[in-house]
Amino acid sequence: MVLTEKGARFELLEPDKQTKLLLSVSPCKNDTVRILIDEPQPIKARYRVPDVITGEPQCEQLRVERQSEDSVTLSWSSGRHRLCVWRFPFRLEILCEDEVMLHDEHGGLLWKETFRQFVDIKASGPSSIGADLCLHGFSHVYGLPEHADGLQLRDTRDGDPYRLYNLDVFAYDLYSRLGLYGSVPLLVAHKADRTLGVFWLNASETFVNDGQTPPVKRKRVEPQTDVHWLSESGVIDCMVLLGPGPQQLFTQYGQLTGYQALPPLFALGYHQCRWNYDDEADVKAVDAGFDRHDIPYDVIWLDIEHTDGKRYFTWDSALFPEPAGLQRHLEKKKRKLVVITDPHIKVDPDWSLCREARDGGHLVKNREGHIYKGSCWPGESYYLDFSSPDTRAWYSRCFGLDKYKGSTPSLFVWNDMNEPSVFDGPEQTMPKDAVHCGGWEHRELHNLYGFYQHMATAEGLITRSGGSERPFVLSRSFFAGSQRLGAVWTGDNVASWEYLSISIPMLLSLSVTGIAFCGADVGGFVQDPEPELLVRWYQAAALQPFFRGHSAKWTKRREPWLFGEKVTAAIRTVIQERYCLLPYWYTLFHLAHTSGLPPLRPLWVEFPGEQSTFTVDNQYMIGGALLARPVTDPHVQEVKVLLPGSGEVWYDVHSTKAHKGGQTLSLPVPVFQRGGSVVCRSTGSGSCTAEQQQLPLSITVALNSLGAADGELYLDDGHSFSYRDRKAFCLRRFSINLIQIILYNELFALPSSNIKTSPSTCTFSLSPGAKDSSPAFEYTETCCRLTVNHLELPVAMDWEIQIQEG
Ligand code: NOJ
Repeated sequence: MVLTEKGARFELLEPDKQTKLLLSVSPCKNDTVRILIDEPQPIKARYRVPDVITGEPQCEQLRVERQSEDSVTLSWSSGRHRLCVWRFPFRLEILCEDEVMLHDEHGGLLWKETFRQFVDIKASGPSSIGADLCLHGFSHVYGLPEHADGLQLRDTRDGDPYRLYNLDVFAYDLYSRLGLYGSVPLLVAHKADRTLGVFWLNASETFVNDGQTPPVKRKRVEPQTDVHWLSESGVIDCMVLLGPGPQQLFTQYGQLTGYQALPPLFALGYHQCRWNYDDEADVKAVDAGFDRHDIPYDVIWLDIEHTDGKRYFTWDSALFPEPAGLQRHLEKKKRKLVVITDPHIKVDPDWSLCREARDGGHLVKNREGHIYKGSCWPGESYYLDFSSPDTRAWYSRCFGLDKYKGSTPSLFVWNDMNEPSVFDGPEQTMPKDAVHCGGWEHRELHNLYGFYQHMATAEGLITRSGGSERPFVLSRSFFAGSQRLGAVWTGDNVASWEYLSISIPMLLSLSVTGIAFCGADVGGFVQDPEPELLVRWYQAAALQPFFRGHSAKWTKRREPWLFGEKVTAAIRTVIQERYCLLPYWYTLFHLAHTSGLPPLRPLWVEFPGEQSTFTVDNQYMIGGALLARPVTDPHVQEVKVLLPGSGEVWYDVHSTKAHKGGQTLSLPVPVFQRGGSVVCRSTGSGSCTAEQQQLPLSITVALNSLGAADGELYLDDGHSFSYRDRKAFCLRRFSINLIQIILYNELFALPSSNIKTSPSTCTFSLSPGAKDSSPAFEYTETCCRLTVNHLELPVAMDWEIQIQEG
């Protein structure tokens, strides 16, 4: 063992095969421990995933605490944690109040494999790596997206392991552990007094097996989760995030892989998409439809048919003769256009972009050294090698306004088919022996492909604006760190109740693994939803981060006004409510951007000590203040909702009725505000976010049982990087207690039982900076609701309001 300033290094020798391995353990300042295992003399250097970790975490100096023939115990300045390394057989333990054990296992595979008609030649020989981890005291584990399954990871001993391998799976099966479009190799374990994360930084095909042993009280057997990781190649680079709580864990993970990008405000509005909006007249008619029906929306999307023969960055000149004019038409109403750009390039030597890609060496090659060709929407296609920094820089330049003809600053981008999808490839993706820049085989970095396209696209949009504007890019494929680049969605779901239900745990899994800006196609992409399902889907998705209606080209049109006035009205209501809630959503995204805490949270994140929340995945918290339980079954008038926390007060957002925590209720569409919180809303929705931004704000104060509440509001220009570069933002904190109520413009005070008599003789004293306004108030005794209007207080200044009874 050698101690260095980066931790401890060990040489491991496998007795049978005399294989040597180098292991280093580095405890870092943010309560994470990095374990790296590599071969000192490999046949070929092993791939280490670049560009995912955002900065080298600062290492702690290790001290030897105890040493014997069998083991050595090391500690570092955090004081709470210890490392214990056992020599024969090798085992590494991380100890705190409990212990985590990890031991390494290194095995061989085949030199050649066949799958249907495909043969995969492993030119560098067998290279798989694996490790076993035992998580002591834990029986609830989460994470490892993307799978169409519940939030809690299931015991895999009776079935398939969780597979992390990015694939294009149309109308994917439910409750399956096979890979979908993206992968985040982060597993999160939780118990009442600790949250722990294991981040396995490897981009090759990965399998995770886990076995959960529940506690046996009688025999005093502690619960335990055994996790076995197996990756096809690369090194073992494993980071253990020590929490101790969910919030610290999210910050630790954010420090490693980057925080959620702060989206431009418009991206949090409603998006209307379809494969395809046929032509300019169609786009204008749909846009006008939203105004005619008084439904706010921000973005209309164009799918692949808008291009000239699936040549991305071009337009079908018959259908879209004036693309810039179309964007200006939308921009006049402060609305945006999103267009699709897939990673494949139509093989067409007459197309300048194809020639540039080919001549610039920007294409993936096959193992014989020729340019790799596969089939996708345009037919025979090349695939851009986004793993190359040069290719990414070139691709980014393709978004320049001078280069991308017909584009304007109000055009944003959607990256699809970037697993990558190859119609005639093995499992509909690229063969593993295709070759990327630096001679790396595709197998090494398969799960990074979409991440890199997303990166190059986001960079392109930033560069297009001279670095001043925030980009918006939606990607179907993703990896750890994709949160820095924009949004993702859950791909080709189906218009059925089961897919609506599963969208909730799928989005929660993404949220706990850093991918906070996520959504599912509203209504279901494949097949036609019945109107009831469509309305329920809008109700659910309006309370989720990325909110986009989308449908496949063979489905019936489903703009919100096509199903009769009742359906239109229901959809209008939820979209308008979404817009009113945007100040709160935007504040939550600021929080995700600065601390890693996701806007969408499983209940256990907010109630970490409450066992009853650990398995709930049909309801969730939006930030710390709101709890939602979407309706995901047909023909139901009411659904059950768990209100956690026996000391909590929960206020029904619709009726403002207060309920005690620690009970399960049945209600029509449960949305609650937690006592002790303040939620800022806009007083109206406007026709798009730019209009909503101009409207006055209201705050809703929900007092807890002590008569107190607080909350935050974040505001900035909603589109540029000025918040970052010039600190041009406003972050306000509202604190309320019954005698001193601070508010802005309009207040719903919900003092469970604290205001006993109607405060009809209230006097308001506003200070300082308040305009001479004449606040009006109204008190509803039945639900103890006090509403104060016409305050006209400036949000950026400090002020105080005192309301005194008689
Ligand atoms: C597959 C995507 O998942 C879907 O959203 C899109 O409409 C089609 N590709 C066509 O581009």
